Amino acid sequence: MNIPFKVDLKDQVAVVTGAGGILCSEMAKALALCGAKVAVADRSLESANTIVKQIESLGGQAMAVVFDVLNKEEIIKAKDEIMAKWGRVDILINGAGGNSPLATTTMENCMPDTLSNKKEGDITFFDLPFENMRWVMDLNLFGTVIPSQVFGEEMVKAQKGNIINISSMNAFIPLTKIPMYSAGKAAVSNFTQWLATHLAPVGVRVNAIAPGFFETHQNAKLLRNDDGSYSARANKIILGTPMAKFGVPQDLIGAILYLASDEASGFVSGINMPIDGGYSAYSGV
Ligand SMILES: NC(=O)c1ccc[n+]([C@@H]2O[C@H](COP(=O)([O-])OP(=O)(O)OC[C@H]3O[C@@H](n4cnc5c(N)ncnc54)[C@H](O)[C@@H]3O)[C@@H](O)[C@H]2O)c1
Repeated sequence: MNIPFKVDLKDQVAVVTGAGGILCSEMAKALALCGAKVAVADRSLESANTIVKQIESLGGQAMAVVFDVLNKEEIIKAKDEIMAKWGRVDILINGAGGNSPLATTTMENCMPDTLSNKKEGDITFFDLPFENMRWVMDLNLFGTVIPSQVFGEEMVKAQKGNIINISSMNAFIPLTKIPMYSAGKAAVSNFTQWLATHLAPVGVRVNAIAPGFFETHQNAKLLRNDDGSYSARANKIILGTPMAKFGVPQDLIGAILYLASDEASGFVSGINMPIDGGYSAYSGV
């Protein structure tokens, strides 16, 4: 793996949630290549173990920890394992998050005849079950809040720490079809500012990155047709992205390393940095 530049994270311990996934596994590897000891956290032990092996084969240090980001007891248990092994937590990346097809409408807009002409398979906003909507909201918002409580407390004890949340373009302007993912990421951005302010006096920085569009498991159904071609939505995204392409996980690494390094970004807290090929700057006209 190539990283764009190196920052010095030697002797620092980083916890990356969702690190078994496509974007955050790259972040975990990049931190390890800069000298951090990385706790690869995921709800899937298999995915976490795979990434630990990859980090070790790159010459880095890593351990797998398994928890659901919504289960405080499991997170505390994992934190105790990390503290027992490495004695500190300096960096937390709150990467676990995502949408659910069960909280996604099939149409972009509600038209005058949407209800009267409803066809089999149509899912309107009014059909979305509360429990599915709550699942998405919980995962994105509380999946960021609860690990921040558990690992943030250690950072406050050490009077030093760094939390990086993963927001989204949806936080600035919501995308059609995915109301709760949009609201959830807006909440993540808002919480980032809140926590940055709350923890500033104790030397803990809190920032977010807002990735544009990257093809991963969670958006595959929205971006690809059954035959593998781009969906109409994917083509729309590319049209709305001045650089006219999807991002690749490597595109996020420079921002993560910058925010992770106190030397590089020691006076930066409370920001939400777009990494989006210009998407958030473009009105579409
Ligand atoms: N893919 C994109 O275009 C895009 C854009 C903006 C933001 N994001 C955000 O980036 C982050 C990573 O996304 P990705 O595309 O790499 O997703 P991914 O699906 O590849 O990875 C997500 C990982 O999180 C883990 N996970 C899910 N729920 C969990 C839970 N409750 N507890 C613990 N682990 C859990 C999964 O096992 C998986 O390994 C997410 O927060 C996502 O919302 C993605």
